[in-house]
Amino acid sequence: MSGESDGTVVRRDRFSGGPARSFLSSMDADHRIFAADLAVDRAHVVMLAEQGVVDDDEAATILSALDSVEDAGFDALPEGEDVHEAIETAVVERVGPVGGKMHTARSRNDEVATCIRARLREDVLAALDAVIALRTALADVAEAEADTVMPGYTHLQPAQPTTVAHWALSYEGTLARDTSRLLDAFGRTNQSPLGAAAFAGTTFDVDRERTADLLGFDGVVANSMDASASRDFLLETVAALSSVAVTCSGLAEDVVLFANRGFVELSDDYSSTSSIMPQKKNPDTLELVRATAGDAVGAYTSLATTLKGLPRAYNRDLQRATPHAWDTADDVTDAVEVAAGAVATAEWPAEELEAAAGEGFSTATGVADALAATGMPFRTAHEIVALAAEQSDDADGSNALPESHASDGVSGEHSADLVAVDAAAREVTGKPLSELADPEVVAAALDPVTNVAQRDSAGGPAPDAVRDALDDVRVELAADEAEVADHEEALAAAADDLAAEVAAYE
Ligand code: ARG
Repeated sequence: MSGESDGTVVRRDRFSGGPARSFLSSMDADHRIFAADLAVDRAHVVMLAEQGVVDDDEAATILSALDSVEDAGFDALPEGEDVHEAIETAVVERVGPVGGKMHTARSRNDEVATCIRARLREDVLAALDAVIALRTALADVAEAEADTVMPGYTHLQPAQPTTVAHWALSYEGTLARDTSRLLDAFGRTNQSPLGAAAFAGTTFDVDRERTADLLGFDGVVANSMDASASRDFLLETVAALSSVAVTCSGLAEDVVLFANRGFVELSDDYSSTSSIMPQKKNPDTLELVRATAGDAVGAYTSLATTLKGLPRAYNRDLQRATPHAWDTADDVTDAVEVAAGAVATAEWPAEELEAAAGEGFSTATGVADALAATGMPFRTAHEIVALAAEQSDDADGSNALPESHASDGVSGEHSADLVAVDAAAREVTGKPLSELADPEVVAAALDPVTNVAQRDSAGGPAPDAVRDALDDVRVELAADEAEVADHEEALAAAADDLAAEVAAYE
């Protein structure tokens, strides 16, 4: 092996061969930043040549060695404490001591921070693609199911009828904010620490803006100690991903409950069966989506605990911080993709949903609203309807009042509820319902379909209100999609430019 007088070799021989060797190594996790490290090496060498720190010939030699290292692949790397050391060793093995010039004016501290940011920004964009796909699937459900009435819950008790579309857009709205959190995290991740060296800068005339540009970063992390030491971008990204996971866990839980009640039919592709009970169709995929929040929040906690109290500047603890971000990015992106597939292929049985939407006197709030709209104090209306609901309950929850008591002119499945409201009105006010309000209006409030249609306040569940909301959602989705595509194109363009700069030396 050439380069016996090279300091790198001496350092390795002296420090890295002991019993703690594998404990010290980050090689397994570094697979993830192999490509990023090669890009960082190339950008650094191009900049060193442009600044006259290395000759063009030397740069050409190192750059061609990097091509050869890339062609051989990660698994062909020599042993090393980490991928940075292994690549440098591989370069020196190929071209001799001149390869040692690659590490001029930098440290593994700024190098690793740059590699992590370069890779993580791609992972954030992949997560954003998945979140936008899920939002699109939810918007499509909203469009298809705008008129599909279903029960809505508070405290997991039937509360008020709503629509499948309103439910779907409720998650779309949260995920839109999750998108914005991820885009924020992307912006602060996409800043270059390169040129900070160990933490204290360098005597060489480096051009930090140039390497940032060659690597597609939007700018540099100005302070060199901050640049090498800080991992708040990891924390912020894992926090944003955890938020996505928590949002999806709620969505998954809802769908699991809906499946339990026969309110949704999952496609076979997103269901499992039992090894013993042949009739079973289980929502396992969504249960695993639900569980992913546990991993993400666990990773956030581990990461925050690792970072807490670390002194300036670089500490090896940071090596154990990084994989939490890789695991979270992979787990959450996978979970979001599965959730999107399950949502996109699910079916919503409209008749069952509408029937269930009227159960448990869950139209009561609408009836109280209808009474209050006549000028009656809402508290009185509430009392009347509460009493009516109680009587319904006493009658075994099944509209069991005698049909002959139904108010004139109102027939159908909700007439018994109307009788109950009439009886309650007499008890509370001493007047029949017909003197207090138009029974037709009250009957409309008792019907889940008209009940929902009446709640057309902005952002409400009435089909018209949902259609209006959906127009805004589509506009916002298109804007977010365009922003992510812009970032993806910028990174691809930077990679092409770097390749062209490198080619000019070869
Ligand atoms: N593998 C290390 C990490 O992931 C980077 C190397 C810095 N090592 C050092 N001893 N200064 O953080």
